[in-house]
Amino acid sequence: MDRPLWRQPEFWTTVAAVVVLSVGHYTAPTHDPFWHDLFRRLYYLPIILAAFRYGLSGGLVTSILVSLLFLPHVLMTRAMLPRQASEAVFEIPLYLIVGIVTGILSDRQRKANESLRRAERLRTLGEMAAGMAHEVKNPLAAIRSSAQILAGHVSGKDAEFAGIVVSEVDRLNKVVNEFLEYARPAPLKREPVKLSAVLDSCLELLAPVIKQAGVAVKRTYPSDEGTVDADSAQLRQVFLNLILNAIQAVENQGSVEVSVRESGRETQVTVKDNGPGIPPDKLTSVFEPFYTTKPGGTGLGLPIAQRIVAEHGGRLVIESTPGEGTTATVILPGG
Ligand SMILES: Nc1ncnc2c1ncn2[C@@H]1O[C@H](COP(=O)(O)OP(=O)(O)O)[C@@H](O)[C@H]1O
Ligand SMILES: [Mg+2]
Repeated sequence: MDRPLWRQPEFWTTVAAVVVLSVGHYTAPTHDPFWHDLFRRLYYLPIILAAFRYGLSGGLVTSILVSLLFLPHVLMTRAMLPRQASEAVFEIPLYLIVGIVTGILSDRQRKANESLRRAERLRTLGEMAAGMAHEVKNPLAAIRSSAQILAGHVSGKDAEFAGIVVSEVDRLNKVVNEFLEYARPAPLKREPVKLSAVLDSCLELLAPVIKQAGVAVKRTYPSDEGTVDADSAQLRQVFLNLILNAIQAVENQGSVEVSVRESGRETQVTVKDNGPGIPPDKLTSVFEPFYTTKPGGTGLGLPIAQRIVAEHGGRLVIESTPGEGTTATVILPGG
């Protein structure tokens, strides 16, 4: 929710409706069933309004509130009009059902809208990225080779500058490539994959980085591991991203643990480090494109990893305790 509750007109409309209806209901002439039936039914309006606006929690809270306000009424009527009271008592479960069902439907609708907007944004991004690939990558290649030629003809400070041009062009290239990958995902090519084998190949590829960072890596795999139906090349990219993040987080005196665990119909891959961790208020930001705290970072590693895992029908969960470390868990169906 954007604004605080007390500054939202829907909140006050709901409160006002409940108050007005309750006052009306309690002051209605006792022996006139017309008014009682009317107020009893009008109570559905604030319940539906709150459920629409605030989802399940709004519907539930309002229907419970209305039920509590209505309950003494039922008890009062019971003394005077027993037949009417027994009829009225059924209204309470109905309030709750309407609150809950409307709330659940409205929550579901909101989620569907959200993912639709996300898909739409990604599509636009993909089209932009395709254009950018042409416009940016070709000149970059030309700049890079020209700078390299220049570097061969000069010496001293000038050669150093030419070197900076080359390395900065490489960095730009990396950003463009990663951005393309994020914005225009390749379709999955599924095959039976042994996750420990994918992890092993990532660790092999990263061996020089691991050695340079002085990081100890521990592996824990199941003894008779099964396979999952997955795109091994894309998963490799996910694990490379996660392991690289872990290595960059620990630097020198740290350790990284990779493990595969099979449980029921899921397989979990965890990459755990004992680095500085992520502050709780940044735990959702890390999935935003371009969020990075590293000087040379692109901030696309986790968004890409999350997208690939989601395409496999799985989830990527990051848990972190500042000062203790971070655990990234990839949960894949099957295994
Ligand atoms: N294992 C980790 N420990 C601490 N911080 C992490 C870890 N993994 C990711 N982060 C944080 O999330 C940010 C985004 O990560 P990522 O999307 O991979 O982009 P990049 O690595 O290019 O910065 C990182 O810059 C870092 O601040
Ligand atoms: Mg990264």
